[in-house]
Amino acid sequence: MLTAIQFLSTSTTDGEKKGALTGLYTGLAFIKIFNPPREVSIACVLTGLLAGQVIGSHLDPREINQSNNTPPWLKPMPSISRADNSTEIVDERKITQAIKDLLKLTPDEEQAPPGTQGQVSKWHDKQGKIFAVKVLKQTEKNRGWDTLYRGEASALDIPKHPKLISPEYLLLRNKADRQFYLIRSLDGVTGNQNQYQVMASVSNWVDGQDLCDLLRTGKVPNAVKFGLDVLGDTLEVLTHMHTNNYVHRDIKIENIMQMQDGYGLIDFGFCRRLEQAEATTPCGTAEFYPPELWSANPSGKYGTDIDLWQLATTSLDVSVGWNPGDYCDGPDNSEEIRSRISLEKDLTREQREKKIKSAITEQNVTNFNSLSGAKRTDYLKDKFHDKFSYCPRFLDLICQLLDSKENRQDIHSINALYTEIKLSLESEGV
Ligand SMILES: Nc1ncnc2c1ncn2[C@@H]1O[C@H](COP(=O)(O)OP(=O)(O)OP(=O)(O)O)[C@@H](O)[C@H]1O
Ligand SMILES: [Mg+2]
Repeated sequence: MLTAIQFLSTSTTDGEKKGALTGLYTGLAFIKIFNPPREVSIACVLTGLLAGQVIGSHLDPREINQSNNTPPWLKPMPSISRADNSTEIVDERKITQAIKDLLKLTPDEEQAPPGTQGQVSKWHDKQGKIFAVKVLKQTEKNRGWDTLYRGEASALDIPKHPKLISPEYLLLRNKADRQFYLIRSLDGVTGNQNQYQVMASVSNWVDGQDLCDLLRTGKVPNAVKFGLDVLGDTLEVLTHMHTNNYVHRDIKIENIMQMQDGYGLIDFGFCRRLEQAEATTPCGTAEFYPPELWSANPSGKYGTDIDLWQLATTSLDVSVGWNPGDYCDGPDNSEEIRSRISLEKDLTREQREKKIKSAITEQNVTNFNSLSGAKRTDYLKDKFHDKFSYCPRFLDLICQLLDSKENRQDIHSINALYTEIKLSLESEGV
């Protein structure tokens, strides 16, 4: 009986469980009717269980498998090793239909603010659980398992954390058979990943605004206090990610959402497992590039310190509405930039203005980043000292994170410093 219970516990899907139970009852009925010797009885029970489990698993092949020991594909994937780099722009209606068919979700009207990589919309299942479906923008560059979209895929396997709003599922399209497949872990990808185009990611819906939206509506009475709270929650999620060997690499106000209880991190487009964070991949958003992204990186990898730099620039953005893209005290080539881009052909007025704006931002960030760590600290303290009167030590912490890569504090020292700051504010009754 014990063996039968152990066996049942290895049946991970409902189909397998139902099949194994039916097999078990059939075996027991056979024993009751024919009363065979003990060895034959055991063989009957085990054969019933095994046959039932196998039949059950085939009757219900697509159901969601929660176990870590079983394949993560919701529908078995063909093992095709031939590389296929052809890109096909897939009609969005087909993607929507695949989400309806494979995940049994229904779309709601609500759309989130558009992102640069995709459009997020609200969906729900039969039980009323709400999901955010991000249909990724398809471009000529989207060659399947490519740079940007690989991030969403990497994030599937980060262990769960309440403030980490990472994808639960990823919708892939096999370029060879043109079928859609749903995955919830990278474990099952044994063939050539380039065989697949990443079409959409599905995460839990957050009922709240992203911080960019929230700050724009001006509902934040004490932005520095708010900035410190955001830093605390983001630090908690980053500590979780770094401990599990993942980097986010795109921390900014658009990618942090206000939740019912604190602030959550979204958008895993640039996320990587640490050993895969190549130096050659541009990552993040220009305003938040750390200095080491511009210079040759001897280690060939961007480590966790990139997230810490971005955490600091984001904290400044939340607290005082300033980021390195606004640094105007360095050499100014705006006129030269403007006239160079004005000569470029085939640009609409809007495209030209956008290009000029981003080139000037890059210039400002380069200027800010080329200051020495000490000069950056002097600049920030001089400019923002008054604004941080609620908590000057918060500005010190930001400056420590904006030091050069070699001198930048690690996440554990920052956690300790943050706890100290919170405790001293509490003891002062602020
Ligand atoms: N889980 C979610 N629940 C509710 N809204 C969300 C969720 N995920 C994202 N959003 C909203 O959709 C917007 C765009 O999402 P996301 O940042 O993932 O897309 P993106 O295209 O990669 O953005 P970016 O412009 O930063 O590259 C977010 O800024 C947020 O407002
Ligand atoms: Mg985003």
